[in-house]
Amino acid sequence: MINIKNDLILKALRGEQTERTPVWMMRQAGRYLPQYMVLREKYSFFERCQTPELACEITLQPVDIMGVDAAILFSDILVVPQAMGLEVQLIESKGPILPDPIKTVNDLNRISIPDVEETLGYVFDAIKLIKNELNGRVPLIGFAGAPWTILCYMVQGKGSKTFDEAKIFCYTQPELAHKLLQMITDTTIAYLKGQVKAGADVIQIFDSWGGLLGPDDFENISLKYIRQIVQALKDDTLTIIFAKGAWHSLENMAATGANGLGIDWCITPQLARRFAGDKVTLQGNFDPAKLLSPIPVIEAEVKTMLKAFGKGRHIANLGHGILPNVPVDHARAFIETVKEYS
Ligand code: CP3
Repeated sequence: MINIKNDLILKALRGEQTERTPVWMMRQAGRYLPQYMVLREKYSFFERCQTPELACEITLQPVDIMGVDAAILFSDILVVPQAMGLEVQLIESKGPILPDPIKTVNDLNRISIPDVEETLGYVFDAIKLIKNELNGRVPLIGFAGAPWTILCYMVQGKGSKTFDEAKIFCYTQPELAHKLLQMITDTTIAYLKGQVKAGADVIQIFDSWGGLLGPDDFENISLKYIRQIVQALKDDTLTIIFAKGAWHSLENMAATGANGLGIDWCITPQLARRFAGDKVTLQGNFDPAKLLSPIPVIEAEVKTMLKAFGKGRHIANLGHGILPNVPVDHARAFIETVKEYS
């Protein structure tokens, strides 16, 4: 085991005091970085995910270039439906396409809970390589999508603002939907345990579409399964739940025993803290679009955000992924302002 030199994020997640607020950015390995664009021209998206050397190089780019306090594995949440037997395409400017989505019981018979070593072993190989290359500089965050968000893509077959087909599937065929959610959950638990075994220091669960569900549906369709994942991992690693827009359920999310909760910019840090209680670390919540403001505005707004969170149990981050059109020096201003503030 290599000692982690910069363990600010691990300390913050355990509720220990840190000399300053740690910082990373969701989607920090991606299109706003010219160095990423070079590799993007040479290799397809899934080539980049499936080749451990490429995934490793892309994962390290923001650590080297931006000086963030954590690396996040370069991969995608949609490798899970792929491993379960669904075809996933990533089409430039169109986003993900799943040409044969799940609609009926017959479709469910086309997929299975896979052997993760066999189908996702390339991710574990990438993690081992990354841990080696990081050599303890910063912790490595592994991740997966929340079962509801994965179902959204498996049923809708593409991105959507409403995911209405996924919702109707859950509302009109609940038995089938819960069977699918449980299959995704079982796959995800095995997959994340594999990531931890390979060396991931923290696991984040992305429920990007959690906010599309009302509070009762969020509990029944999403949180019920996230809870199983957090429970299954709690003796092995630190966990963060990021359920975008699901601020109404912060109290219930905190009760899962997760170490951190991600929040977006549509809730104040003060209100989020009131809902979540004081036994969990909050992560967020800078509006990613604000990184397009002039640098002095970014610096002032970041300070306002840090003040609102107050001291301790906070990891600075964006409220969702960084946008591809953000200038690198604007992203750097975000990171640097957090690092200098104390
Ligand atoms: O955060 C990181 O830097 C690590 C890598 C990462 C990617 N996707 C790489 C990626 C992570 C953590 C994800 C998670 C992910 N993928 C989510 C949850 C987080 C969120 O943003 O809500 C979701 C919903 C997906 C599904 C997905 N993958 C979509 C909708 C798209 C297309 C739209 C987009 O944002 O580009 C992808 C493609 C994708 N995943 C890219 C990257 C860097 C862009 C690929 C490219 O064109 O180069």
